[in-house]
Formats: sequence, structure tokens, C-alpha cells
Amino acid sequence: METPTKKKVAIVTGASRGIGRAISTELARSGYHVVINYRSDERGAIETREKIKQEGGDGTIMQFDVVDPAATQAAIDAVLKSFDSIDVLVNNAGITADGLFVFMPRRDWKSVIDVSLNGFYNMTKPVLEKMVVQKSGSIVSIASVAGLIGHRGQANYAAAKAGLIGASRVVASEVARLGVRVNVVAPGPIETEMIKDVPMGNIKALIPMARIGKPEEVATVVRFLCSKDASYVTGQVISVNGGMV
Ligand SMILES: NC(=O)c1ccc[n+]([C@@H]2O[C@H](COP(=O)([O-])OP(=O)(O)OC[C@H]3O[C@@H](n4cnc5c(N)ncnc54)[C@H](OP(=O)(O)O)[C@@H]3O)[C@@H](O)[C@H]2O)c1
Repeated sequence: METPTKKKVAIVTGASRGIGRAISTELARSGYHVVINYRSDERGAIETREKIKQEGGDGTIMQFDVVDPAATQAAIDAVLKSFDSIDVLVNNAGITADGLFVFMPRRDWKSVIDVSLNGFYNMTKPVLEKMVVQKSGSIVSIASVAGLIGHRGQANYAAAKAGLIGASRVVASEVARLGVRVNVVAPGPIETEMIKDVPMGNIKALIPMARIGKPEEVATVVRFLCSKDASYVTGQVISVNGGMV
């Protein structure tokens, strides 16, 4: 870990590319020191940090797997050793392993739920322990339109994302009086690696705006939810999907 800073601190999981990179950049623009988490793509995490630096911000890269409780606890302990507070946590890391449920191997059911939902537990619980003591903080988790209206072939992903929404609503109500806000952003299809192999023609037909979203269009909503402008917003699911639901 690096030199302590008095800047507000935001942890973004899965920040080596895609939506996580855009969120990291957007939060850095609003003055946060960003903890850029990645699991395997170190080069991508370095690129995220470079992008932040080009815009005058800074960040700290941390490799850990959100599925591993010991690793997440150690990472959060290390952040707290170097910084006074954790002001924002964005649970962004997520994976897909699509397939019809009747053919879905247990490992695909488990891995998707492990990253999104158990990752939420592993990160949010230790961060929340700090936030309720400091009596401030904002937690935003990235769910999906799939958690609101499930799509064929995504039973595992829909279960993970719907679980994230349910858990966030409950946690929000539990900590609302303690100055901590907990919200969810549910994107529709967004131009990233995650959907690069999905045929877009069929998807665009489902979107009233008839286009795929950009990672930056998710990031600005996350930044709003973390800001004082959202001081009375908690327990909500904000959809960013071109009008799909
Ligand atoms: N793109 C979409 O259309 C869309 C729509 C709705 C919701 N979402 C959600 O938005 C979030 C970001 O998606 P994206 O499209 O940006 O995906 P992406 O381009 O595939 O990026 C996923 C990121 O998550 C990280 N990650 C995966 N497993 C991890 C783990 N176990 N621990 C730590 N980091 C891990 C990856 O890091 P490494 O590469 O270093 O492993 C990568 O940085 C996900 O939760 C996704 O479900 C995406």
C-alpha cells in the first residue's frame, strides 16, 4: 500500500476494464482516491490507473478475488491501515456463464453466484463495519436488468443479480439511520468485453432507445448515488437501460 492520503477513498471491485474502469475514472474525477481492484488482468488495472492519472487523479491497485473471504478481509484491512476512512464501495465485479438451466453444470451456477452475491457479502460486511462506526458512506452494487426481468439462458446470473438487489434493500434499511446509504444500479446491455460475443441485433430490438449503453453512462449514475446530491436516496434500484423496464 502507498502513502496515506486525506482524500476520500472509494473501492471499486472489477476495475481492470469495462464498467468498473469507467466508474473508477468518474469517481476519481469527483476527487476520490480510488482503490482499483482486479482479479487477473494486472495490465488492465494499470491502464485504469493511468487513465485516472492522466486526468489528475490517483488510485491504488489491489489484486484480490472477491470470492475469497480471507483475501477480501486482508485487502480491506490494508486499505484501512493506509487511509482514514472508506467512503465508497462499488461492488462491480461480475461474470456470466450462460446456458439453459436444464443443461447448466453446478460449477456455472456456483461461480456466477460466488462472484456477484458472495462477493457482495465478502466486501460489504467488513466495509460496513467501518462505515457504521464513521457514520457515513455509500455502497453501490452493480446488478443488471437480468435481476429484474430474467432472460433465457441466465438463470444463474438472474439469481445472483436479483439476490444482490434483495440483500441491498435489506442492508439499506438496517443502516439508514447510521448515515450509510446502500443502492443498486441495474444496467441493460453495455458495450464491454462481457457482451462482446452476444448478437446485438436481437438485443437492440428490446431497447426503446435502440442502442447499447456505454460504460460512462453507468458510471455517472454511480457517481450521483455516491454524492451528496443523493443524500436522501437509499435502498433504491436505478435502471440504466435505454428504457427497457
Ligand atoms: N456489460 C453489460 O452489458 C452489463 C449489463 C448489466 C450488468 N453488468 C454488470 O456490470 C459489472 C461489470 O461488467 P462489465 O461489463 O464491465 O464486465 P467485464 O468487462 O467482463 O469486466 C469484469 C470485471 O470484473 C472483474 N472480476 C471478475 N471476477 C472477479 C473476481 N472474482 N474478483 C475480482 N474481480 C473480478 C474482472 O477482473 P479481471 O479481468 O482482472 O479478472 C473485470 O475487471 C458486472 O457486475 C456485470 O454483471 C454488465
